[in-house]
Amino acid sequence: MKSGWPSRFSRAAARTHPPQISWLMAHALETPGLISLAAGFVDQQSLPHEAFSSELAALMAEPVQARAMLQYGSTQGDPGLRRALAERLAAEGVFHPGAGIDESHFIVGSGSQQILYLAAEAMLDEGDIVLLEAPTYFVVLGAFQTRGARTIGLDVDEGGLIPEQLEACLERLQNEGELGRVKMLYVMSYATNPQGVTLRAERRPRIIELLRAWREKGFPILLLEDAAYRRLSFEEPPAPLKQYDDRNDLVVYTESFSKSLSPGLRLGFGVGPKDVIAKMIDVKGNHDFGSSHFNQTLLRRVLTAGAFDRHVETLRGVYRRKCAAALEVLGETMPGEAHWTPPTGGFYIWVTLPPEMDAGPEGEVFRRAVEDKVLYVPGCLCYSPDRPESERSPCMRLSYGQISDDDLREGCRRLAAALSSLTHEAGRSA
Ligand SMILES: Cc1ncc(COP(=O)(O)O)c(C=O)c1O
Repeated sequence: MKSGWPSRFSRAAARTHPPQISWLMAHALETPGLISLAAGFVDQQSLPHEAFSSELAALMAEPVQARAMLQYGSTQGDPGLRRALAERLAAEGVFHPGAGIDESHFIVGSGSQQILYLAAEAMLDEGDIVLLEAPTYFVVLGAFQTRGARTIGLDVDEGGLIPEQLEACLERLQNEGELGRVKMLYVMSYATNPQGVTLRAERRPRIIELLRAWREKGFPILLLEDAAYRRLSFEEPPAPLKQYDDRNDLVVYTESFSKSLSPGLRLGFGVGPKDVIAKMIDVKGNHDFGSSHFNQTLLRRVLTAGAFDRHVETLRGVYRRKCAAALEVLGETMPGEAHWTPPTGGFYIWVTLPPEMDAGPEGEVFRRAVEDKVLYVPGCLCYSPDRPESERSPCMRLSYGQISDDDLREGCRRLAAALSSLTHEAGRSA
């Protein structure tokens, strides 16, 4: 294109880039012998093919039902599935009893990724501000950036988001005259991706109180609660933030069936304030007028037949065991300078290296690791660009979701060898 000519792309498209994970996954697939500790794939052996095949066979044996599931569904999501979800979540105490939530407050999406994207598209204009954890789920950063939003990373500790930091940030933005631009707070409330941290129970009501107070002062900030890993918590999980939203006006709560059942289904859902969900449904109508009706009917059946609950119970054991094995391997292989906190669920371990080590995609650690045929997610990808370089570069996300114990051991051994050789070289040249 000649310079000075108008771009053929929209501003939103120009701001859209493939998630860096796509490159990492493509690279893993193309390189024989490469061990990927990067992909967020689920444990292959536990995928519940027997439950699916018997429920699908039962559905297909009823011609009326079978034809219905092969037809278009609704944009908002299959009413029977939404009803089943509303009943299930109410029984689990996800909602405040006085919030008056039913299936009309739900939207089903093609993965919870689509729910997050729809929320971004429904809520954000260029220049708006989204607050999120530092580090955060890196794919969601792309959705916010495409909308032209500015992201601000908030400090977290081993108890997750720190309410005092949130309050300080909101006060600072108010002093700078920018509070009106803050549209959203995005929080992963269980076993965060990438750190594996669960937001401490006593912080939850405090965060909601804060948002309620700012709302009453005229600043309605939507809390987008991402509970993708709630069902894969190793201990009994605390009540969601959504439970404290007693008027159902502050929180859109999202969940995914990818981690707890099957990512191949591509189904997730959101539940929240009527006006926000209605707008997300309008936006979804433009995208696809509904996620796969076939898959939603199948999911409803798997949920109501009890197969889902049995599967989740099994999975928690699977990942608990895999996590323990991964921590043991790390303890045996990693050099003393590397440290990590045991995850509270899910399947990621966040490893922090000494500050002088750069684990970023352009850095020496990554180059050596790829040379030695092991891949990880560079931690810097998980940070909002406003966070300092020094914080972003010495971290890496390792995943034990899909990988076998043997490959995990070998992958960590290779990574540790790459790290140790760099540490020794640095020691020699010092
Ligand atoms: C924290 C978090 N939220 C949302 C998603 C999106 O998952 P899906 O679209 O498969 O439901 C992921 C996927 O890895 C995730 O880690």
